[in-house]
Amino acid sequence: MFTVAVLISGTGSNLRALLEAAADPDYPARVVVVGADRDADGLAHAEDFGIPSFTVPYARFASREEWGDELGAQLDVWKPDLVVLSGLMRLLPAGLVDRWTPRVVNTHPAYLPEFPGAHGVRDALAAGVAQTGASVIIVDSGVDSGPILAQERIPVLPGDDEHALHERIKPVERRLLIDVVRRIATGEVDLAAVSAAHAH
Ligand code: GAR
Repeated sequence: MFTVAVLISGTGSNLRALLEAAADPDYPARVVVVGADRDADGLAHAEDFGIPSFTVPYARFASREEWGDELGAQLDVWKPDLVVLSGLMRLLPAGLVDRWTPRVVNTHPAYLPEFPGAHGVRDALAAGVAQTGASVIIVDSGVDSGPILAQERIPVLPGDDEHALHERIKPVERRLLIDVVRRIATGEVDLAAVSAAHAH
């Protein structure tokens, strides 16, 4: 069975959607572990589904590299086929990215390359655009700069604030994420091939 580790920082609503999808015996991937960089509320979803979890608190390490070494050591315990960053609000250190890419994907609440970074929803609102979106990408050494695996447009509506817009984006992110993980697990998407094509 194709195995997935999911890393989170927050409420983990997208993680929960993936756990629900993966609970279907017909879904071709299983979440084997959930990790967090802090005492994230979303770890409760792992517990609900009987999935083990770990926390590597960023604040306890002297540098991003040392934090990444411990995160990498935790992932080595589980040896997942794929790592999903689902609201992990930290950049992975280059060494960890080098070890895992292209088998690490990230969900992002904007239509990349538009509005990369930690505030994709806020930045789209501030720019006054009529539409934004959701993306799932391969994580490379840049900030939200990796190859795009799936993305979809979402309109910005009059009166939207950051919360309202983000809550409309998230269901789209969930659908894209569940579909991308399914296609990777079945081999329909070849991450190495997508990554190599992006590099040229
Ligand atoms: C999601 O919208 C995800 O795309 C975003 O955090 C949210 C997590 O929501 N990630 C980023 O902005 C990464 N730059 P959740 O904890 O409810 O799943």
